[in-house]
Amino acid sequence: MSWDPGQYLRFTDERNRPAMDLLARVPLDVPARIIDLGCGPGNSTALLAARFPRAALLGVDSSREMLARARREGPPNSDWLEADAGSFTPAVPPDLIFSNALFQWVPDHAPILARLLGTLAPGGVLAVQMPRNFDAPSHRAIREVAAESPWAAVLKPLIREDPVAGPEKYFAALHPRAASLDLWETEYCHALSGEHPVLEWVKGTALRPLLAVLDSHHRDVFLSHLAERLARAYPRRDDGVTLFPFRRLFIVATHSPEH
Ligand SMILES: C[S@@+](CC[C@H](N)C(=O)[O-])C[C@H]1O[C@@H](n2cnc3c(N)ncnc32)[C@H](O)[C@@H]1O
Repeated sequence: MSWDPGQYLRFTDERNRPAMDLLARVPLDVPARIIDLGCGPGNSTALLAARFPRAALLGVDSSREMLARARREGPPNSDWLEADAGSFTPAVPPDLIFSNALFQWVPDHAPILARLLGTLAPGGVLAVQMPRNFDAPSHRAIREVAAESPWAAVLKPLIREDPVAGPEKYFAALHPRAASLDLWETEYCHALSGEHPVLEWVKGTALRPLLAVLDSHHRDVFLSHLAERLARAYPRRDDGVTLFPFRRLFIVATHSPEH
């Protein structure tokens, strides 16, 4: 399932905002080693490089397309590695594992987060952000249009269960191993411009697995049905702006040297 860095980066400001809010809560001054897990095209890695210019940065991602873009446009002097976050283990204990908008793609990730917390250097920090918008109108519309479409049988197996749990689950997984643990949720209200901006947004993320199995004609039909549904759920204002509420979950855990 490939990623399109260009489509993803159409909303760079909005996608960077939670990474910046997460980074603002990282309680470190001069971390020596940082891993950006699910670094994508290198946008979150660039934020890390700006805040911690002396750190050795490693961007890790499973997508070749994303890594190619990161190598080209991400911060220079960073290292890049193709690896799966589910099984990735740092070669040397890092001071910070930062992961913005990755783990919603990794099934059963709470134990993986607990394992990663244990791989940190003493006093190291695990900082994670995931969208928690499975019940948002955008995602409900995707599920409904997929279920009603003539290709429901093909699309149904690709519709995932809600991939991100409530904060309690992450608290239970991380608290026994953490010296400190900070969990919070934020609902952004993105003000998007252009025609069908919510459709363009989900084309870069949640829709990718579904669009990947449709040929171009069926894809166009699917997208036009979804565009109608999204335009009703997120009406364009008279000034051309479409408001797009988006809830996200944040986790900042500090490694406890006793574990
Ligand atoms: C939504 S992008 C996030 C990019 C960037 N961190 C940011 O802040 O915008 C999610 C990234 O996670 C990567 N990804 C998805 N599943 C993965 C996995 N199992 N292991 C490693 N990377 C994965 C994708 O290739 C993609 O680049």
